[in-house]
Formats: sequence, C-alpha cells, structure tokens
Amino acid sequence: MKKLAFSGVQPTGNLHLGNYLGAINNFLNLQKQMECIFCVVDLHAITIFQDPESLKKNSLETTASFLASGLDSEKNIIFKQSSVSGHSELAWILSCVSRIGWLNRMTQFKDKAGKDKEKASVGLYIYPNLMAADILLYKATHVPVGSDQKQHLELSRDIAQKFNKDFNSKNFFPLPEPLILKNISRVMSLRDGNKKMSKSDESDYSRINLKDSKDEIFKKIKKAKTDTKPIPASKKELINRPEANNLINIYAEMTDKKFENVLDEMSGKEFSFFKKELSEVIIDKICPIGKKVKDLMGDKTYLESILKKGKEKANIIAEENLKKVREIIGFV
Ligand code: TYM
Repeated sequence: MKKLAFSGVQPTGNLHLGNYLGAINNFLNLQKQMECIFCVVDLHAITIFQDPESLKKNSLETTASFLASGLDSEKNIIFKQSSVSGHSELAWILSCVSRIGWLNRMTQFKDKAGKDKEKASVGLYIYPNLMAADILLYKATHVPVGSDQKQHLELSRDIAQKFNKDFNSKNFFPLPEPLILKNISRVMSLRDGNKKMSKSDESDYSRINLKDSKDEIFKKIKKAKTDTKPIPASKKELINRPEANNLINIYAEMTDKKFENVLDEMSGKEFSFFKKELSEVIIDKICPIGKKVKDLMGDKTYLESILKKGKEKANIIAEENLKKVREIIGFV
C-alpha cells in the first residue's frame, strides 16, 4: 500500500506551542518522506459554536500557520475540510459502522462536554467518526498527531477494520498508523503542569501562541509556574514536578537536544536563569513564524488560492475512493 499521511488542525483560534511541537513539527519531517495531506478541519470546529466571521478568519490563519511553519503547498495538499463534501458523506456511512459503546469510551468527549453532557451537540459526540472519515477518505496510512488524539486514532482503526469485515472487503481501508512523537507528544499548560496546553484555556498565560510578540513570550515564560527547587541532575527527580518537567521538555525539543543532556547542562541552576534561556530559544523559533503568519494574513487572496488548489487535488482522491465505497455498500 502506498504511504500517505493525513492530519488535521481545528481553526478555532491561535495555534500554540503545543500544536507546533506535538503536530506541525512532525508534519515538517513527514513531508520529506511521503505524500501528505494537511487539512484545516472546520467541520470539526463547529461541533462547538463558532462565530461565522471568526471561523472564516481562523481558517485562513490556520492555513497561514501551516505555510509559515514551512509546509510546502506545492508538494503537499493543503485544504479546508468543508470544501470536500466527501468528508461528510463518509462520516455518515462510518457512523453506521461505528458503535455507541465505542464512542461512550472517548475521554475527549467527556472532557469537552463537561458536566452537562445533555447540552453538548450531537456533532461533538460523533466527532471521532468524522475524524475516521477524514483519514479513511484518502486511505491514509500514517497520521501524525499529539498524544491527545491517540484514542480517536484507535477508534479509526476499529472502524476501518469493522467496515472491511462487515462488507467482506479485506484490506479495503488500511489501518492508519498513529505517528506520535515520543518525547513531546503532550505539551502542558504553563499554569498547570497536569493540564495540556490548549486553545480553550481561559488564561492566555497558559500557552505560547505562534503569534505572540517577543515581550509576550518573555512575560509568559517568566510567569510560568515552577517550584522552589533548582533544576535537578536526573529525570527521576522530576517525577512530582510536572511544571519543571514540562519547561525542560520544551527547551530540549526547541534546541533539538536530549532531555538528559539539558539536565547535564542546567543542573543546579535556578529557574530564573533557565527561563531566560528558554524564552530566547522560543523567541528565536516562534517569532519569525508569527511574523510570517501576520504577513500572509495580509494576502487573503493568496491563502484562498492555496486552499482552492488543495481542494481540487483532495477532491479527486476523495471521489475516487468514495465511488468504491458506494459500490461496496450497495448504493450503486
Ligand atoms: P487540534 O486542532 O486540537 O490539534 C491539532 C494538533 O495539535 C496537537 N496538539 C498537541 N500536541 C501536543 N501538546 C499539546 N498541548 C497539544 N494540543 C494539540 C493535536 O494532537 C493535533 O495533532 N481532532 C483533531 C483534528 C483532526 C485530525 C483529523 C487529526 C480532525 N481530523 C484526522 C488527525 C487526523 C484535533 O482536534 O486537533
């Protein structure tokens, strides 16, 4: 089977360092190795109400963030999910394959729906079926994501397997392989080392946004929660220090150094010193991306033309695969 990677990012606001290190950095390596499809998943975004004007702007901004980070729009397909109607069609079909019991186990639904599950949209509940459709529509074999998406990917594999079995179509859908970076699959909030860094956190101090200025990054890192102890010499001593662990992990990733080597370099140093170094490496990498995002947002016609080209290419693959799905099911 031909190797093909698919991944998606929701256009629900500023992309942050978690998205960058957990997903986009992984995309940058993969585009050198195989064909890749990167999708601005606006159908996923509306599972929670989005103001239409903001959704439009955020969709372009997510596209700009892809390009500014270094994704190549010639080599890869970059497009918007809602522009290829096959996503919705396959999502419905796969909703009839997926089981309620499987969806009931999804922890992200429980987190996002909160206490009042009855008031969550049905879309939010069946969101993992749509995610399976995104991947299987292109028969993607590899899916680069952060570890928060692992359970959804396992579900995608279960759905693919059940479809192949129910319709006696061995190997029709490949079982997509998650590509989750080992060292930095989950970047944590700067305010609470037990919570993941997230766009939806009320406090902007919990995350570094790709568009943050130098001063903002400096201030956020300075204010980031740590503890009173200095940097230890071994990983073992960080077990109950999630905030310290997170900052050192981010530093290691941004400088491309091994975690252990960072500890060798920094052990015994106070966090006040370490935070200055950390701010500088983040500023060096993130500020040029943020500046490019802002520049690209000044040329909406260009961004729209990238999405249009991507839509045309994606639609060809999607229609070809959907045609076979319709035949297998007995629609034609
Ligand atoms: P989304 O938009 O929440 O996040 C986009 C990508 O960023 C990763 N990520 C993180 N990685 C490490 N640390 C963090 N704190 C962090 N926060 C976010 C996510 O794991 C993701 O890879 N359901 C997906 C989008 C999606 C998708 C797909 C992904 C829709 N269809 C098909 C892959 C394949 C989501 O909500 O990602």
